[in-house]
Amino acid sequence: MRILFIGDIVGGSGRRAVKAMLPELKKKYDPAFIVVNGENSAGGRGITAQIAKELYEQGVHGITMGNHTWDNKDIFNFIDEDDRMVRPANYPPGTPGNGYAVLKNRDGKELVIVNVMGRSFLPPLDCPFQTIDSILDKLKKKHKYVFVDFHAEATSEKIAMGWHLDGKVSAVVGTHTHVQTHDERVLPQGTAYVTDVGMTGARDGVLGMEREAVLHKFRTQLPVRFTADEGKWQFHAVVVDVDNDTGLAKRIELIRRFETEAVFE
Ligand SMILES: [Fe+2]
Ligand SMILES: [Fe+2]
Repeated sequence: MRILFIGDIVGGSGRRAVKAMLPELKKKYDPAFIVVNGENSAGGRGITAQIAKELYEQGVHGITMGNHTWDNKDIFNFIDEDDRMVRPANYPPGTPGNGYAVLKNRDGKELVIVNVMGRSFLPPLDCPFQTIDSILDKLKKKHKYVFVDFHAEATSEKIAMGWHLDGKVSAVVGTHTHVQTHDERVLPQGTAYVTDVGMTGARDGVLGMEREAVLHKFRTQLPVRFTADEGKWQFHAVVVDVDNDTGLAKRIELIRRFETEAVFE
């Protein structure tokens, strides 16, 4: 079974990139499931019901989130009803939304997606390692295919999570730092891993945001409002091939494309 996962979609540029790339990727890879990280898809901050709807209409099966989940208040109007969207599972009990979801595709296949958030240089949520363990305890007998988006800042915490889950899930992919890392591999016990998938959004900004504002902030330390850069995009994703018998990974491939390249056939 093949899973396509697209890293943090940032603003209008990121959404344009998804629209431009998805037809080509569906043709080339024919993924059974398409999952995206949508925490920055509404102007860099959060997501709206309309954007989620547009992504689903394009064939996206599930959406993961992160520390920006709550930035656009529209989320509170729909997250409890949206059974294809997950926010970090290690928020305190009672937080709106779900930390994992069972996605179904047209062929009746099921894929569990789980979102957890790191605690290094991010808000102090519950322990992501204990949280994922208790979710897996609940799921494991029923579900073979489990895909984890570990939304974290520190490379060490992400690598540690990869080892923690090696052999227990199909894949652990990192999001949040917005820069694709070149350490993709299938770990010895069969879990596909990459520290960060990389973001999908404007290439000439800073992590998808307009660079002048970010530069001003770094140069002056004054408060600045960041806005998503709407310039030419870069697109980052991974494809994971999972064994149908074991649910473990056979292969992971990084995808990296730019708007300025010819991406259409
Ligand atoms: Fe992000
Ligand atoms: Fe993030």
